[in-house]
Amino acid sequence: MAGKQINDGVTFVLLGATGDLTKKKLLPAIYHLVAKGKARHFAIIGASRKKTSMDSIINSAKKYVKNGKKEVWDNIAKRAVYTSLDFYKKEDYVQLKKVVKETELRWKLPGKMIVYLATLPAHFEVITKHLEAYHMCKHKKEWPRVVYEKPFGHDLKSAKKINKTIRKIFEEKHIYRIDHYLGKEFVENISLVRFTNRILEPLWNKDHIEQVQIYINEDIGIDGRGGYYDKYGVVRDMVQNHLLQLAALIAMEPPKDLSGDAIRDRKVDAFKRMRIHDLLLGQYQGYLKEKNVAKGSITPTFAALHLRISNKRWKGVPFLLMSGKKLPKREAGIHIKFKRVACLLPMCPEDTNSLSIRIQPNEGITFQINGKVPGKSFVTPIKLDFCQSCVFGPNTPEAYETLLHYVMQGDQAAFVRQDGIEAAWKVVDRALARSKTVYKYKQGSTGPTELKMWNTKHKIRWKT
Ligand code: BG6
Repeated sequence: MAGKQINDGVTFVLLGATGDLTKKKLLPAIYHLVAKGKARHFAIIGASRKKTSMDSIINSAKKYVKNGKKEVWDNIAKRAVYTSLDFYKKEDYVQLKKVVKETELRWKLPGKMIVYLATLPAHFEVITKHLEAYHMCKHKKEWPRVVYEKPFGHDLKSAKKINKTIRKIFEEKHIYRIDHYLGKEFVENISLVRFTNRILEPLWNKDHIEQVQIYINEDIGIDGRGGYYDKYGVVRDMVQNHLLQLAALIAMEPPKDLSGDAIRDRKVDAFKRMRIHDLLLGQYQGYLKEKNVAKGSITPTFAALHLRISNKRWKGVPFLLMSGKKLPKREAGIHIKFKRVACLLPMCPEDTNSLSIRIQPNEGITFQINGKVPGKSFVTPIKLDFCQSCVFGPNTPEAYETLLHYVMQGDQAAFVRQDGIEAAWKVVDRALARSKTVYKYKQGSTGPTELKMWNTKHKIRWKT
């Protein structure tokens, strides 16, 4: 998924610069791009409401880069300027524009701006309108490029409203709706593995696949983000975006090629055929004591879902999705369980063939087949295991580094298009309208005890 390399320089404008995302993800991503020579001519303008400095923000970001080099950080700090910005105050945008202009002049940059809205979606419209009103974003071909962090809206209605506003100002080619899972190395690998291996496609359907499991489990809780999380919960925070994107990559029909809009077209087709049949929700014990969580809140932090895809390829195949916080370990992956073959021996293994994709940690793929036990006349499951770091070394780029680089190159394949985001909201909106009960679960457990019955009902033994 290569785009054009830009050599004449870029200006990163980070809105929401004092937030966690900037320090934990965006500045470390820029660090790696600079350290690898992928961003040579650049400047950073950080803006947020607080009065602070870029030096202080950069210092707080340093611990998120292992063995960071002083000269790289110094180079970043030298080219970074902070200006305070109240998203709702016109005069602050005038000042922001002035700072951008001065900085671009100083570093002889060509005015190619990447404006990153690292803010809550409630601010997307007002910021975009102000950028337009104060001529921050004069269109020159596909510049500026405007990046909207997830979640993109709170439901279908709000997502549509945001889209309507921003599309009056920008064309789709300027808009990058982020889902950072799409920048993870092994998520990008899904379509490559699926469509470049002759042996997989003939088996990729209801005749051979019994069920698909997709899970993103976390051992952390809400990490001090109660104000945001309590209004969203796991279905809006993880299912609408990350889990449904993974499901679409597995479910989509083959695209005409593996770039740009071809994949996005096929994913939208897949979203349109998805229905959540059953949903089990949970909340970890102690959630109500987290900061900024409403008294008696029933916001779920755990979800298990049974998704069906109503088309010829997937008729009757359950897609079982799970995500939760405060579970035993951090683990994300996809497990594809194939159907049983007729047993031609007196004894055959319980387990069937399977293909497991480990997104994190220990990225890799395991293919399980049956093989003979030496000296015996029966078979046992054998794992053919590919471990990415064992073959290619441990330096997998972080998702945000990959995605920021794509924005620099103007490659939109790993970003969500307007029709994609709206189709995915439609899937979860329908389910949220039905579901009510939220079961409690112990921190460090595998979810609510009700999950056991739910698993039996859906004939599922999670591979996590
Ligand atoms: C974010 C969610 O999108 O993804 C967080 O808002 C979650 O709640 C995070 O913790 C998980 O991402 P990763 O890359 O750590 O699996």
